[in-house]
Amino acid sequence: MNPTTAEMPMSIHEQLNDSTFLRACRREPTNHTPIWFMRQAGRYMPEYRAIRERHSMLEVIQTPELAAEVTLQPINAFGFDAAIIFSDILPPLIGMGLDVQFVKGEGPVISNPLRNTRDIDRLGTPPANETMNGTLEAISIVAPELASRGVPLIGFAGAPFTLACYSIEGRGSKLFETPKKMMFREPAAWRRLMDKLVIVVGDYLLEQVKRGASALQVFDSWAGVLSAADYERYVLPFNRKLFEKIAATGVPTINFSTGTSSYLDRVASAGGHVVGVDWRMPLDQAWNLIGTDRAIQGNLEPVALFAPWRELRAHVDAVLHAANGRPGHIFNLGHGILPETPMDTVRRVIEYVHEQTESQT
Ligand code: CP3
Repeated sequence: MNPTTAEMPMSIHEQLNDSTFLRACRREPTNHTPIWFMRQAGRYMPEYRAIRERHSMLEVIQTPELAAEVTLQPINAFGFDAAIIFSDILPPLIGMGLDVQFVKGEGPVISNPLRNTRDIDRLGTPPANETMNGTLEAISIVAPELASRGVPLIGFAGAPFTLACYSIEGRGSKLFETPKKMMFREPAAWRRLMDKLVIVVGDYLLEQVKRGASALQVFDSWAGVLSAADYERYVLPFNRKLFEKIAATGVPTINFSTGTSSYLDRVASAGGHVVGVDWRMPLDQAWNLIGTDRAIQGNLEPVALFAPWRELRAHVDAVLHAANGRPGHIFNLGHGILPETPMDTVRRVIEYVHEQTESQT
């Protein structure tokens, strides 16, 4: 007899409690350093491109069986220690009333971006059960399958600031000047928007755990466009509220951002059992800033995967050397894997990290 969805997560948590990834999140010793890559399912894999030839990005995300299949692709191909559910940070905005499209060669585009306070007031905050059912169903399908192989599934969402950036700018940008203008000119409307995003993202993350996610990562990919003082004033209170809310799930949470080296301590103060860091600052320095009572994730330069092995190995060694075998290191890239990355190199790095850190307990 199949267990009900409500019963499943308990057994999943029990099955995976001793996995290297979850042990590292809790800063417990592991028999090797766990490794996974942000955006590990994607265009560098021919099996992913084959699915994308037949289906649009949103179709893959919204069809549970397809999203589940793509989530498994990097787990089938490599020895990663964790999986991440296949989706994107932007689909939750669709349920709020924004028209999100993934345009070939351009990335995500929102055709009705937020232009004024009235647009913000009109945004809905429907529950994830109603609007994100495709991804939640994909989690219900793939989490038990992964658990039977000993691999935890990471659920994720975009952080309020990074989502606000896309909602206002309507597309990617280097400096996100339009959102910053609104933030400075209309601080009350900005707070209403951030509050709404905390509600939507918080509910979505809680629901992912109910469906079987073993950990949660919050992507604040564009936080680095802000000064430390503006981060503290316009972003930190909302991230803090979000991390408080999701801490109630009991699963480890990962607080990831890029470009924030100069105020990583403030970023970390928002919460998260694990702090994800980009490639700009050595891990030991980052760890000093956030404190060794937190686990750390990172931080190989993604472009180093294109270097000859000797050069790449030196980069990997530098990350491992900076982590110094201290419990609580999860090996990852400093940002997402790039589309043309050679698969053999990915395989080699995973094997090398496992070999180099074997039996460090
Ligand atoms: O990590 C995983 O394997 C899970 C899947 C995942 C995707 N996007 C799939 C994706 C995750 C975790 C994301 C997060 C995401 N999406 C972020 C935060 C992480 C980061 O990289 O900073 C951001 C900012 C986005 C927004 C986004 N989605 C952009 C800017 C783009 C275009 C750039 C690009 O790589 O094409 C996307 C599209 C996207 N999201 C793709 C994938 C696999 C490529 C879509 C395709 O198949 O053409």
